[in-house]
Amino acid sequence: MEIKTVDLKQYSSLRVGGEGKLVEVTSTVELVEVIMYAQKEGLRIHILGEGTNTFFADSLENFLIVRMLSRGISFEEHGDSIFVTAFAGESWDDVVQFSVEKGLWGLENLSYIPGTVGAAPVQNIGAYGVELADVFVSLSALDRETLNVVEIDKGACNFGYRDSLFKQQSNRYIILSVKLELSKKPRAVLTYKPLDSLLVKETITSYDVRELVVATRMTKLPNYATHPNTGSFFKNPVVTTEEGVRLRGKYENIPLIEVVGGYKIPAAWLIEHVAEMKGVRMGNVGTWPSQPLVIVNYGEADAEEVMAFSGEIIKKIKEATGVELEREVNFVM
Ligand code: EPU
Repeated sequence: MEIKTVDLKQYSSLRVGGEGKLVEVTSTVELVEVIMYAQKEGLRIHILGEGTNTFFADSLENFLIVRMLSRGISFEEHGDSIFVTAFAGESWDDVVQFSVEKGLWGLENLSYIPGTVGAAPVQNIGAYGVELADVFVSLSALDRETLNVVEIDKGACNFGYRDSLFKQQSNRYIILSVKLELSKKPRAVLTYKPLDSLLVKETITSYDVRELVVATRMTKLPNYATHPNTGSFFKNPVVTTEEGVRLRGKYENIPLIEVVGGYKIPAAWLIEHVAEMKGVRMGNVGTWPSQPLVIVNYGEADAEEVMAFSGEIIKKIKEATGVELEREVNFVM
């Protein structure tokens, strides 16, 4: 086990965070060793994948950051279904690409989402009308309380919109591998714009869907290599039906998307039309001009500056609408 002191900025796609202790693990045996070491030293553990949804604070002295690098993908065939099992350290999009190249259906809408396989269930990644839960079967995890490896099936994962058991009990389980069920038979989900443009084609492949998703994401979302960011910084808020009706009275054009228990409102719309902070930059931090849900570090911003900027957005929207945006990014602080 080699514990390095690193500049954690280099391990977060937002490029903020202070110095911290980091260790890389490739197996469950190594992981258990690291957990026991951290317990002995009184260090808090944070499990890191590719750091594309992680917000490191400026001071992290009491943490040990554990980078999961376990790799491997396997396939198992059962009739029209193909069960894919991938280790936590695999890059999510490599798994998507691999499955699409094999002609399989199920992951194409989730193309080009940054991050690792192990991170995907934590926030139940979702895009273009599909979320991980739709193809998820089970996962294997290390239970930090008992240090046993456990299998957790879909029902026990408590998946919700950008939510899961692994967010609700963030210190309990460390995801080791994930099992998904894909299909050999076409099952395109083309309800979400601009994927509906593919409906006119007579035959489509999951590869066609992937290509359009990748192209769309590339035009709408900033590349974190050149414009550090963590994707959507906020969740889309859900309000009650009465609240939605009240807001429609005040904002005639507010988009209200029906969900169980009320309406989901695109946070991007609130940021653009209520806070009027689309494409607005203050110092080193700003919202992305074509998707204001994304906060970009335009320079040498520190964690405090990003918190202050995002706090300003939350405040403006809360004051005008009563709706409180929740930050979606994963905080280590
Ligand atoms: N909108 C605006 N102004 C804008 C952009 C969007 O008002 O500048 C409004 C429009 O009404 C638009 C609506 O927001 O119809 C929805 O926009 P979009 O389709 O871009 O999706 P989103 O709800 O803003 C979610 C996910 C994204 C995912 C897209 C596509 C969350 C928090 N974000 O964004 O996920 O790519 O849908 O499915 O649910 C991520 O999590 O990092 C991420 C990028």
